Amino acid sequence: MPLYTNLDRVERGLASLGIAPGDAIRPEQLFALDQWHYHGTEAIAAAAQTLGIGAASHVLDIGSGVGGPARYLAHTTGCRVTALELQAPLHEIAVDLTRRSGLAGRVTHLCGDALTFPLPAATYDAVVSWLAVLHIPDRPRLMARLAGVLRPGGGCYIEDLCSRRPFAPRDLADLRQVVCGVTVTPPEDYVRDLRDAGFADVVVTDLTGDWAPYAAERLAAWRQNRAAYARVHGEGAYTAQEAFYAVIARLYDSGSLGGLRIVGRKP
Ligand SMILES: C[S@@+](CC[C@H](N)C(=O)[O-])C[C@H]1O[C@@H](n2cnc3c(N)ncnc32)[C@H](O)[C@@H]1O
Repeated sequence: MPLYTNLDRVERGLASLGIAPGDAIRPEQLFALDQWHYHGTEAIAAAAQTLGIGAASHVLDIGSGVGGPARYLAHTTGCRVTALELQAPLHEIAVDLTRRSGLAGRVTHLCGDALTFPLPAATYDAVVSWLAVLHIPDRPRLMARLAGVLRPGGGCYIEDLCSRRPFAPRDLADLRQVVCGVTVTPPEDYVRDLRDAGFADVVVTDLTGDWAPYAAERLAAWRQNRAAYARVHGEGAYTAQEAFYAVIARLYDSGSLGGLRIVGRKP
């Protein structure tokens, strides 16, 4: 997935705080660096509240990236988190950051594909996912797996991209090649996939009105802070991220791209 490049950016960000590779880290020092979705830790806190995640909960995080949401949940609620990430380089960074933050006792990182990785049935109290399902080619199968690993009464909380109207050919090419979005569908299709998998009380919230301006502001801020960012991370990392942010902002502008939160419960 070409969008997750320049993986030294977390370590470079830590270096700018005077933290060397291998040093201990306070979880808070990572929050500006390890949340690869909209609204950083606020988004994760909202999920914890909605699902009632607490110290007794065991949570599964799908597409956990470098582990930011998993560490935040464990650190702030005391829960246990199993964090599943496809890409080995991100998984390795996640393991290292979790160990250095002192959270390895509560956060377990697994490396594998959410569609096939063996997971125990009827085990987790909650399944969460931020901006990962769009990359996974078979959403009905994924939702059936998520329903299977939740204990009865457990909740599922997903934030993801969706489509609001068909993408123009050039936009579709960017969606596939730059965003690596393979399942970006209308919200109704998403709801259907959860219901077909056996989820009840499925509630979808349209986040486009919030995420579209967020993406535009993120791009503007990125361009404004070019010198500072390039100094810490290098010109190549600046340019790669700028290209990605610019495509996302344009796709929202086109009226085709949207964002949603979808929540359901296993009966
Ligand atoms: C935008 S990142 C979000 C990371 C994390 N959820 C966060 O919010 O910080 C999406 C992640 O999903 C992962 N991913 C994509 N397909 C996956 C799959 N089939 N199984 C597990 N993880 C996957 C990607 O490798 C990437 O790390």
